[in-house]
Amino acid sequence: MGGGVRAVWLTGGVLLLGGTAGFLVMRGGSVESWREVSRGALADRQQEQLERAAEARGELAGVLMATLVEAVETEGLVGAISVCADEAPRLVASVQRDHETLLGRTSWKRRSDSNQPPAWAGELVAARTSEEHVLVGPGGRLAVLTPIVVAPFCLQCHGDPDDMDPGVTEELALRYPDDAATGFRDGDLRGWFWVEVPGGD
Ligand code: HEC
Repeated sequence: MGGGVRAVWLTGGVLLLGGTAGFLVMRGGSVESWREVSRGALADRQQEQLERAAEARGELAGVLMATLVEAVETEGLVGAISVCADEAPRLVASVQRDHETLLGRTSWKRRSDSNQPPAWAGELVAARTSEEHVLVGPGGRLAVLTPIVVAPFCLQCHGDPDDMDPGVTEELALRYPDDAATGFRDGDLRGWFWVEVPGGD
């Protein structure tokens, strides 16, 4: 190969590309990958990204909760399921637009297909972490994964199906035939908010 590039696959999906300029390590097909950072080690610019993430997450949490509580009051529990189903994705999209960030909710036990984790969160979601994690990624992006804990109010739609209103279990079965988001108890980890703030590079 003369001075050309050599590629060697190592175990664990690591590709070593060797050339005159040295070696480039690729993992999972991307040159720059996400890595976890501690809050104390963040640069000023990253600290600002972290604040932007908190603002966007706070807004999403607030509008989702307000919409849910109002829907339960005005439509009852069964009616509130349709409101959540229709409004949650719309609210996520509108907060993404307003804050110019990507964000959403996810879990290892999901109700809605639209709540899949982003790739950088996959391992943490599988490990069911109950702590907040901050990661930095390609192009100066910063991502945050924040746990969501179950409160008694949530059990009406995410608790033990035997204890739930039969009208609710029926509506959930109709709307979400593959619903995995029941069986939680008060104080359990329910899932996470995830936020990905662009790097501006
Ligand atoms: C009236 C029923 C209802 C109540 C009460 C309710 N949820 Fe949900 N929840 C839903 C529905 C429907 C979805 C799927 C649509 C969506 O929001 O994306 C959902 C989705 C979620 C998701 C996204 C992950 C997934 O499973 O798809 C999380 C996280 C969540 N709920 C947490 C909570 C928490 C925490 C509470 C209590 C504060 C709560 N829910 C109360 C109906 C409810």
